[in-house]
Amino acid sequence: MQALAEHYITFRQLHLGFVTASGCLFALRAFASLAGAGWPLARPARVASWVIDTGLLTAGALLWAALQVHPLQQTWLGMKLVLLLVYIGLGTMALRRARTPAARLGWTLAALACFGWIVGTAIAHDLRGPLRWLAG
Ligand code: HEM
Repeated sequence: MQALAEHYITFRQLHLGFVTASGCLFALRAFASLAGAGWPLARPARVASWVIDTGLLTAGALLWAALQVHPLQQTWLGMKLVLLLVYIGLGTMALRRARTPAARLGWTLAALACFGWIVGTAIAHDLRGPLRWLAG
């Protein structure tokens, strides 16, 4: 664990890099798909998304181990994990399941809002996420 802690900064930079890449790629795929493009659901885009998201989760798990935090004690981390599942579900609806363009747009916006909420929860280190700043 001590060895992992020494690499905290590297894991954090990697995590942030993957977070940025993941959010940008999802938004690009979802909006391109809405515009009628076929590539967002083709194999290269799916593989790129899979690789980036695996990197994001791995770097997140390494940070988690380096900091030695528990998701039930550090509730912001537990909240992030719950919201991650919600984000995956919303993303699947946006890219694969929704039938009409209006529905796909709605799921896309909901997924991006969820993504932003996860970022807010991470930065605030607070279960309430961005609402914390409203609480003063
Ligand atoms: C879509 C998913 C995710 C997003 C958008 C995200 C976003 C972020 C951001 C923006 C930070 C930096 C916060 C700061 O400036 O202090 C961060 C830190 C962190 N994330 Fe994630 N994250 C995600 C998934 C995960 C997952 C799945 C885990 C755990 C397995 C995780 C664990 C952590 C940890 C432990 C930190 C370190 C906080 C600190 O330095 O104190 N993240 N995350």
